[in-house]
Amino acid sequence: MRPQDLIEKKRDGFVHTPEEIAFLIRGYTHDEIPDYQMSAWLMAAFLRGLDENETRALVEEMLHSGEVLAHPDVPLPKVDKHSTGGVGDKTSLVIAPAAAACGVAVPMISGRALAHTGGTLDKLESIPGFRTALSLDEFRSVLKRCGLALIGQTREIAPADRKLYALRDLTATVPHPSFMCASIMSKKMAEGIDGLVLDVKFGAGAFMKEFDDARSLAATMIDVGRKLGKRVSALLTDMNQPLGRWVGNAVETREAISVLHGNLKGDFAELCIELSAHMLVVGGVTQDPDNARRSIRGAIESGEALERFRRVIKAQGGDAGVCDEPDRLPGAKHSRVIIAERSGYVDEIAADEIGRIVMDWGGGRRRLEDAIDYGAGVELHAKRGDRVDRGEPLATAYYNDEGPADALCNRLQAAYRIAEDEPVARPLVREVL
Ligand code: URA
Repeated sequence: MRPQDLIEKKRDGFVHTPEEIAFLIRGYTHDEIPDYQMSAWLMAAFLRGLDENETRALVEEMLHSGEVLAHPDVPLPKVDKHSTGGVGDKTSLVIAPAAAACGVAVPMISGRALAHTGGTLDKLESIPGFRTALSLDEFRSVLKRCGLALIGQTREIAPADRKLYALRDLTATVPHPSFMCASIMSKKMAEGIDGLVLDVKFGAGAFMKEFDDARSLAATMIDVGRKLGKRVSALLTDMNQPLGRWVGNAVETREAISVLHGNLKGDFAELCIELSAHMLVVGGVTQDPDNARRSIRGAIESGEALERFRRVIKAQGGDAGVCDEPDRLPGAKHSRVIIAERSGYVDEIAADEIGRIVMDWGGGRRRLEDAIDYGAGVELHAKRGDRVDRGEPLATAYYNDEGPADALCNRLQAAYRIAEDEPVARPLVREVL
């Protein structure tokens, strides 16, 4: 087999055999197929599509590109959550410790910022000293001691996704359902979990803009997971505006810590409770979602969830003092307030644009090797549906780089749409599958 023949085959709309998918994934993972050929194949497959069998072969091949873990010495049900990516989405920092405090173990392998969306690893690494690159032995040991462990992909776990994820980011081939399904399910199935909760996002700030596309992606991932013997559920959640009040790395970590301190108002806290409650249900801790919600609230209000977070930060080399003194997180030298130019209701906040603004201020990466400015971020004072008067603050930008400040503040202003009438409220969780 030659890569160019497979690129041609897909370019012309033909279907691959499982052996051909295996050839491509193994060749790329072992550096036998170069980036330029894999990029061409990715784009051909992006445009032509992959059918159900090809997608399944892709998941299996990526899953078995590395080790598939098991945790026989952790007697609790092992459960994780994964989001398809959004703006302001820091739920992992709350739900992993909250679910762990309620009787499941959470071996979580997360990603970095991808396109305009933020990444859990970058948020965690804003905590001074926090190490997300643990060896597998360290990962197992932290999981055993803390009930949760939060790491990035290693060379051992789904290495095919590690390479492909970065290449897709640079070749505009992220938002494809088969690629997203294979990327997410390969690394999640390799973690050694019994159950998985998927947060599948739709809307302007998500990779799947349309609800129906997100729903079909969720159904495909559930099918793949269940065929591999796991309990999987999916929440379809609205990503038409950023989640919570803050977007950026250190500022989102701060916001997550505030929820762990018991500040349970707003969409971000609501989603944390929903997702972690479903983790308890798929983990078999309880069958009743209301019971699960009560347990999660209880674990947060009693401080147990925060204590788990302190413990895991410490176990992974970080400064757990940030939990009580968030000013120890990186900050920004400058700030600028954006005000409403007219009175009315906030009708839309372009989530993807807010994500790109934070990225352009250094809060995300253009290339994998780029350094992150953890202190850059945006605070949203007004969210969709809020009434604002002319001259009132809409948002504050926090930044270290003065260079692009005028242009980025103009874009931040333009990301807000103010209308005369109050918009119809949209549910945060549209459907649970
Ligand atoms: N998150 C992932 O892990 N993979 C994708 O492809 C998209 C979002």
